[in-house]
Amino acid sequence: MDTLIKNGLVVTATDTYTADVAISGGKISQVGADIAAPAGVRVIDARGKYVMPGAIDVHVHLQLPFCGTVSADDFENGTKAGACGGVTTVIDYAIQQKGHSLWEAIEARRREADPKVCVDYGLHAGITDWGIAGKEMDDVVKYGIPTFKMFMVYKAQGWMAEDSDLIQALEGTARNGGMLTVHAENDSAINLLIDRNRGRAKELGAYGHALCRPNYTEYEAIRRAILWAEVTGGRLYIVHMSTGEGADAVKDGRDRGVDVHAETCPQYLLLDDERFKGPDGHLYGTCPQLRKPADQARLWRALADGTVQVLATDTCTFNTTQKAMWGGDFTKIPFGMPGVETMLPLAHTCGVGAARFSLNRLVQVCCTNPAKLFGLYPNKGTLAVGADADVVVFDPDRKVTLSHKNLQTNCDWSPFEGFELKGYPAVTLSRGRVVAENGKFVGEVGHGRFVQGHAWGKLD
Ligand code: URP
Ligand code: ZN
Ligand code: ZN
Repeated sequence: MDTLIKNGLVVTATDTYTADVAISGGKISQVGADIAAPAGVRVIDARGKYVMPGAIDVHVHLQLPFCGTVSADDFENGTKAGACGGVTTVIDYAIQQKGHSLWEAIEARRREADPKVCVDYGLHAGITDWGIAGKEMDDVVKYGIPTFKMFMVYKAQGWMAEDSDLIQALEGTARNGGMLTVHAENDSAINLLIDRNRGRAKELGAYGHALCRPNYTEYEAIRRAILWAEVTGGRLYIVHMSTGEGADAVKDGRDRGVDVHAETCPQYLLLDDERFKGPDGHLYGTCPQLRKPADQARLWRALADGTVQVLATDTCTFNTTQKAMWGGDFTKIPFGMPGVETMLPLAHTCGVGAARFSLNRLVQVCCTNPAKLFGLYPNKGTLAVGADADVVVFDPDRKVTLSHKNLQTNCDWSPFEGFELKGYPAVTLSRGRVVAENGKFVGEVGHGRFVQGHAWGKLD
């Protein structure tokens, strides 16, 4: 035994009980009452605290070249930020370049990430050229990347997938046991609205971004993607779902037996489009955009009742200097915001603390469901003998006023500035190593490893 976490309240997706957790060689070796600590073992006193699986953020973009700049949290700082916030695994994207192989993107991303990551990470393969990717998909699943990403927007960036690509990729998942994740927005409807409003950019300011991305531009795309999953029998996952109508569409699809899953993010639960009207409105520019309080209420319900299975962040950090590139033109805002560090404490305060869902549901949506859906379970996402010792000792009583000044992120603003939190990670362990204490990183650069995800058992 290397480490013993004593007297905490162990919280899993299904159970809550007082126990000790012993760790040996980076794995959980024992969970039970009154485990004795041999001499020399590090003992972490968790009395009065929760002992939970480390959170898994399945949607981050670290050092992503995007919107004419590169997202400001790189693999090193982004994973440090994750550790500080109780996230012990992140999944980023290896996005194919048109005319090139998926393997080039994967190898390039691994070269960037492997020496820098401070907690474990996986990759999704971003498909932008189906003609090439379609031939490679099955082998990518076998390599340990069972999840793919297609964009129904971003034609101008060269990333957009046609419906025929989506259909074939979903057919691929039905064959190889993978899962297609999609960014669901209708590109041509958005561009029509942008063209109509371009002349009013000065008058509209950052609110122009909201005006050109009404709810229907998202939920039309969600409904379309669900239809393609239904007719192909493929497995679909909607990323960063922002609208109440989107949640209704996912519920309808699931009720019909379609293999569709969905994620939402703290920004869609906690912020609304009034933010675009403030002096710093452009900072909140993200795709999809922030919505209305009614959408937030619907998404909270969806997260609680199982319509939405996963909370993730879509971390794509742009600082105020990068955001200033918009120059008063809403079409030029770098899209994205920080989030990996604040997901778990926000979900605790605003989800569990506000009686929107239980502690076990918090573990389901932040830890266990992501592990199951992205092929990492049971090695990650739960506290069980034999699992990786990715553990968060969470202090439910610690009060924190969120400020970017106290966060690890390379961002000089926070979308959640001033939020009053009750509950914060006290200690984060990644494969048995303490990597953060009370919001400060104490781990080692390069400690993280690439983790292979497994498919749904359909490949040999
Ligand atoms: O605006 C966003 N969400 N930026 C990151 C890229 C994406 O679409 O997920
Ligand atoms: Zn997206
Ligand atoms: Zn994203």
